[in-house]
Amino acid sequence: GPQYPQVVVLVGATGDLARRKLLPGLFHLVSAGFIPGCRIIGVSLDDINADGFRDIARGALDEFSARKVNPADWEAFASILDYVPLAAGAPVLRDAVLRAEASLGRECRRLHYLSVPPSAALPVVRMLGEAGLVENARIVMEKPFGTDLQSAVSLNGHLHEVFAEEQIFRIDHFLGKEPAQNILAFRFANGLFEPIWNRNFIDHVQIDVPETLGLGKRAGFYEQTGAYRDMVVTHLFQILAFMAMEPPTSLEPVPISEEKNKVFRSMLPIQPHDVVRGQYSGYRKEEGVDPESDTETFIALKCHIDNWRWAGVPFYLRTGKRMAQGQRIISIAFREPPKSMFPPNSGVGSQGPDHLTFDLADASKMSLSFYGKRPGPGMRLDKLSLQFAMRDTGLIGEVLEAYERLILDAMRGDRTLFTTAEGIERLWQVSTALLEQPPPVRLYEQGSWGPKPIHQLIAPNAWRLPF
Ligand code: BG6
Repeated sequence: GPQYPQVVVLVGATGDLARRKLLPGLFHLVSAGFIPGCRIIGVSLDDINADGFRDIARGALDEFSARKVNPADWEAFASILDYVPLAAGAPVLRDAVLRAEASLGRECRRLHYLSVPPSAALPVVRMLGEAGLVENARIVMEKPFGTDLQSAVSLNGHLHEVFAEEQIFRIDHFLGKEPAQNILAFRFANGLFEPIWNRNFIDHVQIDVPETLGLGKRAGFYEQTGAYRDMVVTHLFQILAFMAMEPPTSLEPVPISEEKNKVFRSMLPIQPHDVVRGQYSGYRKEEGVDPESDTETFIALKCHIDNWRWAGVPFYLRTGKRMAQGQRIISIAFREPPKSMFPPNSGVGSQGPDHLTFDLADASKMSLSFYGKRPGPGMRLDKLSLQFAMRDTGLIGEVLEAYERLILDAMRGDRTLFTTAEGIERLWQVSTALLEQPPPVRLYEQGSWGPKPIHQLIAPNAWRLPF
């Protein structure tokens, strides 16, 4: 954990993310003793007081905490919570922070966590500056960072007027997931796979993150955001970078970011005709949604990394709300053998190419599928597979949830799993044509795999899911 006590200013403290992840995460970190002293000051548009905030926090823990909330831990946690309505302004916030620091009694650090939509980020940053809360502080910026290239460049520029780059932690919680980091271990700690990790052996890659979840109470955020900005330009591209990057010179923040940014630089601009945008039927009737909304709740696309390793290998990405299953998989399809000596009706190739699949479920799972001989006379082939599940290893101890891990990293000043201004700006740049000329949204049934044209998009290949 961090060396110093922390005063956390949690902006957006009553919002969906705070309730679902940040408050339960902070509760766990505090109760499990990861932080040597902590005060949390909630800030939001809601006109409530500290007790009102405690009620919201308690409700959030009851609803979303993965662990049991015991009364003593709750009392302790409740006692470190305070609240300042955003409308109270900079001086009141400053007083609350100074009070919290005084109560901690020794040298502290400040962690400003901005869990706010892109349009609210800058006013909050300015308020923190005006309140004089920049010193000894780090600031965590939630995704999406900006809404397009211009807004991201401008946000970075204005942010740098208040905070130095070393203080800024642009969070992408997918990078905090254990299975995501396991991709790096798998690729670079083993000699077996890296030699075939390229266009000579890999036919295509799929990153597929369907969700069964709907909007919840997030219509206000989601209407402005949509699936591309919410998931693709952030999480899916970050995962893609872990899959596609060159080996970094070391596992330090700068070398890792350099290699990821090289992947982003090599990405060809996303072409609108390589994209299928979808909207689930009934979305326009959801509370808070424009009855003529053009926001996509689903997106599938094909993209290319035009470098020495990946030229010509399509990467297919897909994600959406209210789909048939909740999954997070990365699937690598290997090229077919140069010649088949098996009789045409043997079954070879009938179930798609052989695959390596990473499952980014809470605990890593991997599988390697291949053709093998079905026992019996003659030569009949079947798709078989080797399966790995981290759960079966007995290695899972005190696992930190992705947000918990990243909050601790930010408190310690470790930037390894955070994104950079350059990387994010480049991702918006490759998105420009799509954002300016989005193809029309197509309706899909709730509980389906998306609108029909997703099959043309991936042809002659096929979506791996459902298994
Ligand atoms: C968030 C998105 O960043 O990630 C949500 O805003 C999405 O829309 C969520 O549901 C998915 O995260 P996870 O960790 O549940 O896969």
